[in-house]
Amino acid sequence: MRVVWATDIHLNFLQPRERAAFYSSFHGGQPDAVFITGDIAEAPCLHELLGEMQQAIAVPLYFVLGNHDFYHGAIETVRRGIQDWCSTQSGLTYLSSSGLIELTPKTVLIGHDGWGDGRYGNYHQSPVRLSDQEVIWDFQGLDKQSILAKLHTLGDEAALHLGEMLTRAAGSYEQVICLTHVPPFKEACWYEGKMGNDDWLPFFACQAVGEVLLEMTRAHPDCQVTVFCGHTHHAGIVQILPNLCVKTGSAEYGQPHVEEFFIIE
Ligand SMILES: [Fe+2]
Ligand SMILES: [Fe+2]
Repeated sequence: MRVVWATDIHLNFLQPRERAAFYSSFHGGQPDAVFITGDIAEAPCLHELLGEMQQAIAVPLYFVLGNHDFYHGAIETVRRGIQDWCSTQSGLTYLSSSGLIELTPKTVLIGHDGWGDGRYGNYHQSPVRLSDQEVIWDFQGLDKQSILAKLHTLGDEAALHLGEMLTRAAGSYEQVICLTHVPPFKEACWYEGKMGNDDWLPFFACQAVGEVLLEMTRAHPDCQVTVFCGHTHHAGIVQILPNLCVKTGSAEYGQPHVEEFFIIE
């Protein structure tokens, strides 16, 4: 199976002609499927641009959403809207609300949006304030402590879903591919070739997902788990355990690109 992966494509920053050129770039790899690890667009144009992309690439598109996909919307409403809409579309699968996707007899695909869950780094000392807190409705009007509680809940939701999926997958498949938007380890939170610092880590890594990945890969050493993520817009690969690898993809606003082409046995 031939797969193309891209992340943080932020299609809403492109003109129609630029989007068409980006979609055409997928055909070079002659993929059987495309993986997108979030920050596809923003809530008001998400359906339109996802549908446009899937039509243009004409192969199954598996995706999770990133924080930008909820801009100018409410998280649960956006998730439910995409879930309901994908159930009526062939070729579009939102992994946060799907079950296991068997790609080959040996390999299964899982995923969840994830969220910077405020647990790595030093949330309380951090001067960082993301636009998320202004334009995602869930955060509007919340104080710093209430925002942290919400970040914890979002991270825990991702970990719960991925824990269930990993439990079902690990005994039956040799390889698990996991798509998520937010790096699940601070070691995977790349910024210009280095690990993100304590000010940024609370918002750029999801500890709850990292913990469930560690637990499951330690319990199933014969199962190889590869995580694909984005969010930091800086690329890197880290081998957390012999059977747990995390690939973080790069991105530039207004210039989306194919991050990797690979073959799944
Ligand atoms: Fe992004
Ligand atoms: Fe993001």
